[in-house]
Amino acid sequence: MAVTHELDSQFYQPAGEFFPAIANLALTYDDVTLATRYSEILPRDTVLTTNLAESLCLNLPILSSDMDTVTESGMAIAMALNGGLGLIHYNLTEKAQLKEVARVKNHVHGLIQDPITVPPSQRVGEVVEMMEDRKFAFSTFPVVDDSGRLAGLLSGSVVKPRYAQRTVAEAMISRDQVHTVNQKKLEPDPITVADQFFTDHPGINKLLVVDDDDHLHGLFTISDVERIALEKKAQFKPARDAEFRLLCGASVSATRNAFGELDRERIHAHVDALVERGLDVVAVSTAHGHTKGVGETVRVIREAHPSLPIIAGNVTSAEGVSFLADCGANSIKIGQGPGSICTTRHVAGVGIPQLTALYVATRAARETGVTILADGGIAKSGDIVKALTLSDAVICGSLFAGCAEAPGQIMEIGGKLYKQYRGMGSLAAMKAGSAARYGHQKNGNSKVAAEGVEALKEVSGSVDQVLTQLIGGIQSGMGYLGAANLQELREQARYIRISPAGQREAGAHDVVEMKAGGS
Ligand code: XMP
Repeated sequence: MAVTHELDSQFYQPAGEFFPAIANLALTYDDVTLATRYSEILPRDTVLTTNLAESLCLNLPILSSDMDTVTESGMAIAMALNGGLGLIHYNLTEKAQLKEVARVKNHVHGLIQDPITVPPSQRVGEVVEMMEDRKFAFSTFPVVDDSGRLAGLLSGSVVKPRYAQRTVAEAMISRDQVHTVNQKKLEPDPITVADQFFTDHPGINKLLVVDDDDHLHGLFTISDVERIALEKKAQFKPARDAEFRLLCGASVSATRNAFGELDRERIHAHVDALVERGLDVVAVSTAHGHTKGVGETVRVIREAHPSLPIIAGNVTSAEGVSFLADCGANSIKIGQGPGSICTTRHVAGVGIPQLTALYVATRAARETGVTILADGGIAKSGDIVKALTLSDAVICGSLFAGCAEAPGQIMEIGGKLYKQYRGMGSLAAMKAGSAARYGHQKNGNSKVAAEGVEALKEVSGSVDQVLTQLIGGIQSGMGYLGAANLQELREQARYIRISPAGQREAGAHDVVEMKAGGS
């Protein structure tokens, strides 16, 4: 049993006492430290589940930023597989963004209900071209005739330029040799049925689903089924929707038409199309979210999609949080200028250091029932622990920009490997589409002050590797605070400011470091 001691309460204060007591000084992560508390909690037993909206539950409270050097489908898939969420950026054509979302939603979900099929009359060469054009990561296709009936299976081993001139009908495995299951036999647990089939049929790795008339209704592959079986045992389960597809988010901006008015129809059509692809949450991402344009954009989306989770931002005031909540947003992004590539505070002289901004926001959020996302400025796992004492999840750009799953090529400079990482308010990114985020027009001739820099990140391995370090740190922090879950972390947090010497003491010091620790 924990016994409270008055000395502890004098020095280590809960948020409600600590922040108001220094209301005229804005603090960020490195300005404070958290006091350890009595604990019966082992780090490995902590649960990191977070609810960002009624229908948006993550198993890991981490999102990857909607930036063009951070999140496209590869990053969003890796984030969701680890229980978090990726927000696909909007420096793409709408069509390309829809494709990225579709890639995430179609990634491994056991039964592929709408597999890509080919007709018997097609040439193998055309199939090879289609694969290259559409960048499919698979090469086996069910063959279906004009009436939708299964005619055979085109195996990946023959989808090669060598067989280009043959028809699919000549190259395929014929119908009588293809393994199928009637869809009626899949209930109540399709994955278990498929798993048993693959165990009973060594060497077979595709199972097609048909109805009584032999119409094709789906496809199982052994690798998907095996991955799902592994997931069931994992501590951090992938973030999935009700149909077992990975969760995916995407950003939109407050798009304006040629007359400078909010382009409601375009925003409407864009979000409709994203939802049609299976999007789970839309983010209205701008540098200044407490504005008429952002508020109206949120309202337009909310009217058309009453139950779609909406993230909106960015703001750093209680008024900003209440405003976006009133407009219909579920989760509010907090952060103006904390990002590693941000220069907003220097350029525009505005923005609030992150911990104070989060405290103010989180108090307003309580009044309105919205959730809070700590966006930007996170450089290490300890920052995430501190952020989660005041927010429901964090958004990270720089921590993931060096991962293999981030868009962009690896480059070598002076024997070291790097990837590009740029602010969405950098001139190059604004030219590529993000100008609206900063209240500028993409093709405008007016002078535009960049609010972000173009930078490099040292290559940092895979998202799995980076998240393993981050999760380890978060769980460790929760263990120190005696918090079994994020709600308890918020309740248990006690803060104290640290001096510059205290900050120096926090890192490795007075040694020659031979091997850097994890983040
Ligand atoms: P980190 O620190 O994780 O921050 O790299 C990522 C977050 O920074 C925001 N962002 C910007 N802010 N100018 C800004 O002031 C920019 O050019 C810029 N680009 C991104 C964004 O909120 C992101 O999630």
